[in-house]
Amino acid sequence: MRDLKAIIFGVLLGLPTLVLAFALGTYFFGCNSTNSCTGIALPQTTPIPTLIPATLPAPKVGADASPAKPRCRVAAVDLLGAWVSAGYSETEPFTFTDVKGQTCTATFTEDVQKLFLEANLWYDGSPACTTCHYADVLKATQNMDLSSYAGILAGSQRKNGEPTGVDILGGGVWENSLMYQMLYAPGGQSLINRPLMPLGRPSNVPEKGPIIAAGTPPAP
Ligand code: HEC
Repeated sequence: MRDLKAIIFGVLLGLPTLVLAFALGTYFFGCNSTNSCTGIALPQTTPIPTLIPATLPAPKVGADASPAKPRCRVAAVDLLGAWVSAGYSETEPFTFTDVKGQTCTATFTEDVQKLFLEANLWYDGSPACTTCHYADVLKATQNMDLSSYAGILAGSQRKNGEPTGVDILGGGVWENSLMYQMLYAPGGQSLINRPLMPLGRPSNVPEKGPIIAAGTPPAP
């Protein structure tokens, strides 16, 4: 019992004494109440808390910072028709009339080529033309390569890999072209009684295909 009292007393008196001794000790022999003791070099710190590493993409500057350019809207078959009628250049811009009646400008690479390369473009679940009409013309359906500009111009029925086959662009007369005849489907029906492209196309797909964003509108 007496031992316990002694311990409690000891702790009650001892602890404050130690704390006081430490505080006084640092005050007189250390740095007073500041952290500016001479002789002790504290690391130079900035008043700004350490920055968290940035995880967002770097902001774009210059030309890249401009907002998305406005696009025109046009039916896929009309866009193709405008390109063919303008002489089907690979790089030269051509004009087409969009759904609002404005004269818009487009190019093969930017606007037309995706009609052949992209799946789900003609309708939900549609294969890309190049699923069947691909670069290996010996094996491709109708021995036709729609995967590149040169392939499209080379045409179909290149059974032995001939450099050119049957012209599918109607020599620039859109309504005469096989391309038009395989794609334009008034009332969901082919004009020439052949399967509509892309093969497997349901009859509820609009006759001129989907309305897509393409080209750029005239400057205001
Ligand atoms: C799933 C395979 C498949 C896909 C995808 C496909 N085609 Fe075809 N294509 C065919 C078949 C099969 C024929 C032959 C049809 C027939 O029997 O008349 C054909 C024929 C053609 C022809 C006529 C060639 C000729 O010499 O008579 C053209 C042009 C054509 N396709 C363009 C396209 C375009 C453009 C697309 C994409 C919008 C496309 N095809 C997507 C299978 C396909």
